[in-house]
Amino acid sequence: MKIDILTLFPEMFDGVFNESIIKRAKENKKIEINIIDFRKYSKEKNNKVDDTPYGGGSGMVLMCQPIFDAIEDIKTNDSKVIMLTPDGKTYNQTIAYDLSQEKHLILICGHYEGFDERIRSIVDLEISIGDYVLTGGEIPAMILTDSIVRLVDGVINKDSHINDSFNDNLLDYETYTKPAEFRGMKVPEVLLSGDHKKIDEFRAKSRYNRTKDRRPDLLK
Ligand code: ADE
Repeated sequence: MKIDILTLFPEMFDGVFNESIIKRAKENKKIEINIIDFRKYSKEKNNKVDDTPYGGGSGMVLMCQPIFDAIEDIKTNDSKVIMLTPDGKTYNQTIAYDLSQEKHLILICGHYEGFDERIRSIVDLEISIGDYVLTGGEIPAMILTDSIVRLVDGVINKDSHINDSFNDNLLDYETYTKPAEFRGMKVPEVLLSGDHKKIDEFRAKSRYNRTKDRRPDLLK
């Protein structure tokens, strides 16, 4: 899988994509990530990428030309073009799974007051990471990339996402490690029993009860 990220702030991605699982996935050639500064596509003086909104109002709006040219340059028949925007479809684990099956994602990060509306005509999917407004699409692009990369075949052990929270619309089960008792709090006996059938039942019940307590909306 290849992920191309169009941004005006490429350095924001340095830390996040050069540590831990994403770093390893890149090294093992499971994924390729390219951070592309779309300012270089601008045909305006001083590589300008934004201008004031028609009709007046505050802030600057990202112009069509640099983003159209960037997409036309990097898009292939296998590409899915995604715009990060607070008015997009709310992101969730199901969308992450679907996107992890794609060959090539192009993520467009906005900044300032937003995008010229006509940019939406070259986008396949608009995504919001939640009902709040950030200063730009860079952190949302990192969130999409992180959640998608861990689902790409061979990046992490498949068993570790079978029970992920939100799989089957349930939260993950409770987990413990050594010691078996800490400050009077004991690990449930069944987990020490070695009886794997009982442990599976305990975990299934744990997933259901936790979801009912914490996120009853997921059970509907
Ligand atoms: N850009 C600014 N806020 C955003 C959000 N909540 N989701 C996606 N992109 C954004």
